[in-house]
Amino acid sequence: MHILHVVGARPNFMKAAPVLRALAARGARQTLVHTGQHYDRNMSDVFFTQLEIPEPDFNLGVGSGSQAQQTAHVMTAFEPVVLEIKPDVVLVYGDVNSTVAATLVCAKLLVRIGHVEAGLRSFDRTMPEEINRMVTDRLADLLFTPSEDGNANLLSEGVPPEKIHLVGNVMIDSLVQLLPAATKIPRNGLPERYALVTLHRPSNVDDSESLRSILAALLEVSERMPVVFPAHPRTRQRIADFGVNVDKLYLVEPAPYIEFLALQRGATVVITDSGGIQEETTFLGVPCLTLRSNTERPVTVTMGTNILVGQDRKKLSSELIRIFEGKGKTGTIPPLWDGHTGDRIADILLRL
Ligand code: UD1
Repeated sequence: MHILHVVGARPNFMKAAPVLRALAARGARQTLVHTGQHYDRNMSDVFFTQLEIPEPDFNLGVGSGSQAQQTAHVMTAFEPVVLEIKPDVVLVYGDVNSTVAATLVCAKLLVRIGHVEAGLRSFDRTMPEEINRMVTDRLADLLFTPSEDGNANLLSEGVPPEKIHLVGNVMIDSLVQLLPAATKIPRNGLPERYALVTLHRPSNVDDSESLRSILAALLEVSERMPVVFPAHPRTRQRIADFGVNVDKLYLVEPAPYIEFLALQRGATVVITDSGGIQEETTFLGVPCLTLRSNTERPVTVTMGTNILVGQDRKKLSSELIRIFEGKGKTGTIPPLWDGHTGDRIADILLRL
């Protein structure tokens, strides 16, 4: 059984690491392909080091571009790799452009596809990730879901039940593994209490009005509590393009994985538009306010610490007040978010 993994962007790395490790422990033959969708050291290399991901066998070096360009570049560069390696199964992760591009290539070459983090739906087709999720799940042969809602979504779309495997949240495997290291990070002059912010969705940062409104809200927050803001390259670029003064925020470089876990763990509140961070804060029991009106990860709201505030500044500030008063949302950890998802996926694959 030869398994080929495709990763491309930052949120793929913490999902692939546990599966690579579990399969290596079982002696499986593996090939790792990095599409190069994310290429900055602090968006990519540092994650490979901290998560102990082996050096990729292939780096496709596709880089940035429009949605179509990026997807097409991955497809044209990935096809010859599949033809050369002839894997038995290709594993794709999450919902980024590299995920859907690799899936399209494999579907046409009749290579079996496994999708890790299948079944998530925001039901919002304005998000490029939602299109990527729908197409990937439609074409995949093995759908590894993180929670029951994923199974329900896939069944309602007509996916045969035998293709669906509820395995739990693989990203939590990486969190569980590296949380002890995160507790050892020195606080480096960080204040005792702070709000941690991340922001990178095109709908929030590419539109001048949305970005200005969110930054104005964050500047308001900073009057009550320091705001630590590790900025994604696209967000930093937009802040510069729109000429917004953010001197009052602690704008820092994107944090490596372990440092970011430490930052989340120590935060009074996390304010984000990311998908994965909604899950990590739920696991850590840290209140999370999500700057989106929907989520493909509803268990973080129903069971976890997540609240959707959308673009509603009144809701953001009223929820913040509750958190500052120590009345933030508490929650529980969803079933199977236990650090063993990689093992479950490996066992299923090796039984094929
Ligand atoms: C991608 C994913 C998103 C995920 C996010 C995490 C898609 C559709 N989106 O969005 O789901 O949450 O990654 O970060 O795949 N850039 C750099 N250096 C890099 C990478 C990107 O400077 O290493 C800049 C480039 O200017 C690029 C922009 O960021 O144009 C956007 O990168 P891109 O890969 O297109 O999407 P993300 O916004 O990172």
